[in-house]
Amino acid sequence: MNLDQLAGTAEAMVQPGKGILAADESSGTIKKRFDAIGVESTPDNRRDYRELLFRSTEAMKNYISGVILYDETLRQNARDGTPLVKLIEQAGAIPGIKVDLGAKPLPFCPGETITEGLDGLRERLVEYYRLGARFAKWRAVIDIGEGIPTWTAVQANAHALARYAALCQEQNMVPIVEPEVLMDGAHDIDRCATVTEFVLKIVFQELYEQRAVLEGMVLKPNMVIAGKKSPQQASVDEVAERTLTVLKRCVPSAVPGIAFLSGGQSDEEATAHLDAMNRIGGVPWRLTFSYGRALQAAPQKAWSGKPENVAAAQRAFTHRARMNGLASDGQWRRELEERAA
Ligand code: 13P
Repeated sequence: MNLDQLAGTAEAMVQPGKGILAADESSGTIKKRFDAIGVESTPDNRRDYRELLFRSTEAMKNYISGVILYDETLRQNARDGTPLVKLIEQAGAIPGIKVDLGAKPLPFCPGETITEGLDGLRERLVEYYRLGARFAKWRAVIDIGEGIPTWTAVQANAHALARYAALCQEQNMVPIVEPEVLMDGAHDIDRCATVTEFVLKIVFQELYEQRAVLEGMVLKPNMVIAGKKSPQQASVDEVAERTLTVLKRCVPSAVPGIAFLSGGQSDEEATAHLDAMNRIGGVPWRLTFSYGRALQAAPQKAWSGKPENVAAAQRAFTHRARMNGLASDGQWRRELEERAA
């Protein structure tokens, strides 16, 4: 393990004004996204779509520090034969790779999952590094419901995250540690805060036990937010304050940065929440984005699989990337207000 290299990569991933594009949808997830815009999910269509994003030069150069890829994309070439990884590197961003193999039902824990993919991971990481990836992602999924999450599920997922993180660092790849507490339920923000705090406490305990080095990782948590089906939605400022309170209780200051997932928030909400947190400030880590849906919903809709829409899709992506870049500096609302004045 080369800690200087790891820390350097982690710092670059969370550098001021930039954040991470999560473009690592599995084949199943990208099919769902393409179904919604009436596009068939073929390897060529997936390539065309992702090429469009990575060739959005203004967005990639100015607002995107790294891109999380799916295995297929890491091996794909653009239409002109240039590896997609090269397009990302040429824009000055760092290629990364999703390495978990998805969340599977956890035995004897109805409604809960365990993320798989540890077997053979060391060998896969060696290959991914050779293909250009300098960081990785592993997503654990924690659902909130009646009687869940259980200790069994939280502990098993935290343990897997920590095993993954240590394996990544051994291969000089920065682990994005993603314990996602879902916002799908009808729970209120208090319950999300309680569960998120519990999950993060256990995750950092497990990281310590597996000897992961906090300076060489990036945390990708959910925000503390009411469930989508809750009648009591919290304000932007409340989400920002509650999220920071939980993070301050759980995340050691040795962690260089926190890059949030959007988790089903609207584009604007995800931007507003990040901006509000950075306006409050006073925290020891960089706070930025690692958004999938909140960066891609607009360009996907604009593209709709038509070559003549590529420029419009790139404009939509650039706009969202710029808004989130501003939010990562706490400058988004200020700019909106200035424009309105
Ligand atoms: P969302 O921002 O759409 O939640 O995706 C981020 C991600 O990478 C989830 O694993």
